[in-house]
Amino acid sequence: MVSTSHDVEESWDDEFQQLVQTFPKDKSFTGMNLYFFQGFWCPSIVLKAVISCQKHFQAFDSDIIIATLPKCGTTWLKALTFSTLYRNQFARENNPLLTYNPHSLVRFIDYDFYFNDTCPDLENCTLYQPRLFSIHLPYASLPTSIKNSNCKIVYLCRNPMDTLISFWSFFSRLRGEGFEPVSLDGAFEMFCQGINEFGPFFDHVSGYWRASQEKSSKILFLQYEDLKEDITSHLKKLAMFLGVPFTEEEEKQGVVEEIAKICSFENMKDLEVNKKGVQTFGYPQETFLGKIKTYEIPREAFFRKAKVGDWSNYLTPSMVVRLEKLIQEKLENSGLTFKLFSKTSNDITSTE
Ligand code: A3P
Repeated sequence: MVSTSHDVEESWDDEFQQLVQTFPKDKSFTGMNLYFFQGFWCPSIVLKAVISCQKHFQAFDSDIIIATLPKCGTTWLKALTFSTLYRNQFARENNPLLTYNPHSLVRFIDYDFYFNDTCPDLENCTLYQPRLFSIHLPYASLPTSIKNSNCKIVYLCRNPMDTLISFWSFFSRLRGEGFEPVSLDGAFEMFCQGINEFGPFFDHVSGYWRASQEKSSKILFLQYEDLKEDITSHLKKLAMFLGVPFTEEEEKQGVVEEIAKICSFENMKDLEVNKKGVQTFGYPQETFLGKIKTYEIPREAFFRKAKVGDWSNYLTPSMVVRLEKLIQEKLENSGLTFKLFSKTSNDITSTE
């Protein structure tokens, strides 16, 4: 059960209604209403929260922010960053990931903290220190204090073909639970036009890519396919970036491999906590959204196939040609490339 765009919009006061009337509006292929705001398509359900966090969120220099587009591996990156950053704050056999979904351990600034509260108290809002948050906003729309402080951002992107299929499959799975996704043809068309949650896709990726090129000590730019190919070296890179490099002793003890294993898709999807129940977003406390219910997603929906190249089971040859052209056009001269297939047999290789 989730709050619908309609529920949310009904709860907006007159002043906010008037403000949003100045924004272009469309419907995403997920069935959610989107408003074009600051150059990106913001889901109506979180628009008010986005504006609040932009006004009020105060980053600490020590904060770590995980930034992603939905369906690019947010759940995985939350697990990896949480386990790496806080590894000395809990016993190895008691990793909270064994009993909590990653979305409970690393909360969204936009979808959680500001969802029901214009100005939440975030001084001591996370279980461990330093504070670790997550966000879907494009780089240009991040709260100013995130951009201007010394806090660090870990960005994870994924090739657009798998992102689209993961997105479309996720919302198709949630059909009737507040989402009414359109056919894959319709979804493909809208994705190519850039009309999807926090899209255009290429603007989101390029924004963080450029920022990471300019400020490499502030922004670590990661790609899902690279993590799938070699998780160990990327975990070491992540730990180094976070300022908590693995010691020689830890490496000898196999701590890196242990984290990779606990966060692996195979392990996480089979944990009791991830097989049942719903993940609640937003805090069910005093709410400016009035009668709006908290936002809930069945936990097992976050774990589908986790394959690189799964798009090849869905997209037609003409869709592939169009997306390939778009990739070329949008990323030309940027130095950024995507891996559409994997080299490892666990995933789908181009020769299959
Ligand atoms: P698929 O739909 O291709 O299977 P997000 O977490 O941003 O919502 O992204 C969801 C995607 O990440 C889904 O991809 C999901 O299966 C995959 N995923 C979830 N947990 C993962 C993990 N531990 N390792 C790798 N991929 C994972």
